[in-house]
Amino acid sequence: MTAPVLEIHLSDSDAADALHHDARVGLSADPKWLPSKWFYDARGSELFEQITTLPEYYPTRTERELLRRSVGKIAARATVDTLVELGSGSSGKTRLLLDALTANGSLQRFMPLDVSEPALRGAMAAVAREYPELAVHGVVGDFTQHLELLPAGQDRRRLVAFLGGTIGNLLPDERAVFFTALRAALNPGELLLLGAGLVTDPAVMVPAYDDAAGVTAEFNRNVLCVLNRELGADFEVGAFDHVAVWDATHEWIEMRLRARRAMTVRLSAVGMTVRYAKGEEMRTEVSGKFRREGLGAELVDAGFAEQTWWTDPDDRFAVVLAATA
Ligand code: SAH
Ligand code: AVI
Repeated sequence: MTAPVLEIHLSDSDAADALHHDARVGLSADPKWLPSKWFYDARGSELFEQITTLPEYYPTRTERELLRRSVGKIAARATVDTLVELGSGSSGKTRLLLDALTANGSLQRFMPLDVSEPALRGAMAAVAREYPELAVHGVVGDFTQHLELLPAGQDRRRLVAFLGGTIGNLLPDERAVFFTALRAALNPGELLLLGAGLVTDPAVMVPAYDDAAGVTAEFNRNVLCVLNRELGADFEVGAFDHVAVWDATHEWIEMRLRARRAMTVRLSAVGMTVRYAKGEEMRTEVSGKFRREGLGAELVDAGFAEQTWWTDPDDRFAVVLAATA
């Protein structure tokens, strides 16, 4: 086993600058908003893992089942030397891919990329232990900024996995930029494996983002803990209620934090004072759900014309293997 390598494209000071910028822009907007990538400090990543085990949160188990069904075909098609995983988190379901791709004998390297260094380090250590034959090369980075820096596979044959439905956490414009940048970063014949939530019954989707045990509420409020710690802010975390709504126009679940009373919050590191009215809602995440025609067309527009789709019997989630021309 060779020791895992960690490459840092996003230093602590880059991340601090980005957080300052996002807080300044998002908290002075009307309505206020924050990018969802700031959920994922060590605690946020842990809470996300708890979410994936909740009875209401169907995406993870549905995608795992789809991967179980599809990995044989994916491995037959993908004789790749490198598996890149974007927004890898714990790389839990990725084990199914790693098993199938190591069994076909071609895979040499696993390259997870995540903004969350704690989550990345944990996943890298576990994968290096479980797959001693693989070189593990992690990247702390932002998949909206660092795709062109992804090292090429030794034989320039990579499969890029982007699982979990995280594509839905990008706004539509960001998504188009992301697909185009990813296409540009790939060599002809390299592959994308995309997991995406599908539009289904709001009675199923909304509870997945508003669970009875309150784990998603804690995950949502965790972004305020991040701002308190990283920006010297004084948010009273318990004074915000978790809100999850289905936006039928945009076809996304929107998570918000609603102020229980009027509040003035100081962000000392940003030199900013923010006022909340009683009942004011601040957007903290969108989680887009897709229709096959729409997502398929977005992929084609970005240059991923060849697509193989797997969906579950209830049509709640899709796994798509897409190839560049
Ligand atoms: N892929 C895993 C984890 C999904 S949680 C799964 O399917 O279960 C989303 C992950 O994406 C988190 O680990 C988070 O830290 C990461 N993430 C969110 N925004 C990111 C960004 N802009 N760049 C890189 N990673 C990001
Ligand atoms: C990471 N991402 C796909 C999750 C989602 O479903 O949008 C994040 C999440 N937010 C609330 N629960 C889970």
